[in-house]
Amino acid sequence: MSSSTNRYDLWAPETRANPLPVYARMRQEAPLVRLVDPYYKTPVWVATRYKDAVDLMRDARFTKDIQKVPEDSPSRQLRTKSMEAINQHMLSVDPPDHTRLRTLVSKAFTPRRVEELRPRITAIAHRLLDGVQASGSMDLLDAFAFPLPVTVIAEMLGVPQEDQEQFREWTNVIVNPPTDGNMQTIETAGLQFAQYFQGLLARRRAEPRDDLLSALLSVEEQGDRLSPRELISMLFLLLVAGHETTVNLIGNGIWALLTHPEQLERLRANPALIESAVEEMLRYRGPVETTTQRWAPQDLEFRGQVIPAGESVVASLLAADHDPEHFREPERFDITREPNRHIAFGFGIHFCLGAPLARLEGTIAINLLLERLPRLRLAEEPARLRWRDGVLVNGLLRLPVTF
Ligand code: HEM
Repeated sequence: MSSSTNRYDLWAPETRANPLPVYARMRQEAPLVRLVDPYYKTPVWVATRYKDAVDLMRDARFTKDIQKVPEDSPSRQLRTKSMEAINQHMLSVDPPDHTRLRTLVSKAFTPRRVEELRPRITAIAHRLLDGVQASGSMDLLDAFAFPLPVTVIAEMLGVPQEDQEQFREWTNVIVNPPTDGNMQTIETAGLQFAQYFQGLLARRRAEPRDDLLSALLSVEEQGDRLSPRELISMLFLLLVAGHETTVNLIGNGIWALLTHPEQLERLRANPALIESAVEEMLRYRGPVETTTQRWAPQDLEFRGQVIPAGESVVASLLAADHDPEHFREPERFDITREPNRHIAFGFGIHFCLGAPLARLEGTIAINLLLERLPRLRLAEEPARLRWRDGVLVNGLLRLPVTF
């Protein structure tokens, strides 16, 4: 089925450039709207109202575990061998496994531990800007927004610098929809990823270091708390999260500022507003547009709608964060918005583990960009900027700027 058979074409390029009008209509229609993902050809029910999105995310009747879904369901048929090798992570399981896996790494991501990274993150950001400052122009994503969080998560995990370009390719293939319909590319990237980590883990086993990889390895060796497959999957999840999210907080955030000059001036005049500005960037155009899927293990009723067994539901965080029932003038980008209880990091037990890290990276990055590049401007008409395919990650393909 092509996307044009959907009543709401969430996947069309013009929708990707601005999904809000489509979401506004969906919010009017019903608590859940059923669409068919044009890439995977699977049905997905989308919640767009704030209250429904929150209730859906905390509804324990839905499962994150594909193994609990009837075997003949289309989503389950799509699973490939490589995905199974990297899919035993906290975001694909329910309690008690979820609790066990999350607890193993949660200490490394608390606000206090993350705050200790401030000097290092600042130094990386400076170094990246040193590299481009003289040139007067750059693709902000490529030169700055991407390498910053990637370097940070790679250092935390203990992944060698020189392998980072390779991760970029793999994570990109795995997270983005197969626009050519070829699942084989994803399969191959997943297998290569798993193999790469087998090799790296073997080296760390022989020679442990002071990094997350060595710490997780010692947990695995103790036996019953982390299986080899769970370990690879955990590394995969952390790397993907580190590669595909904060880059778009910085990119979408700078895009929002450059297309709202009066807000940019306010922030330049009062840099202390940075934290509140980053919260508004997360709300206004958060990097994660919809949650990952939850499935109905059997027929389930939600707000009067029966979700047949095996079908999936997602919450549109972007739509919920623009719900006029919850936010005053939601279409306005206001860096001093108060209150601003957005759900860009999700809600409930799967609430983003990396939120403190992402917030810190975002504030440091945007602060420094404004401080060091006082003449920062878009180098392209906003209408000509192109946005990524797919509804999971919302972000620009390129963000050309001059300064
Ligand atoms: C601005 C950047 C980020 C945003 C907007 C974001 C958003 C989200 C969202 C919405 C979820 C929940 C998904 C769902 O329920 O289906 C999530 C989960 C998660 N995020 Fe993030 N994320 C960001 C950055 C990061 C970073 C930097 C890391 C760590 C390196 C990270 C690690 C995780 C993990 C491990 C989970 C799964 C938590 C669980 O299942 O308990 N995220 N994130």
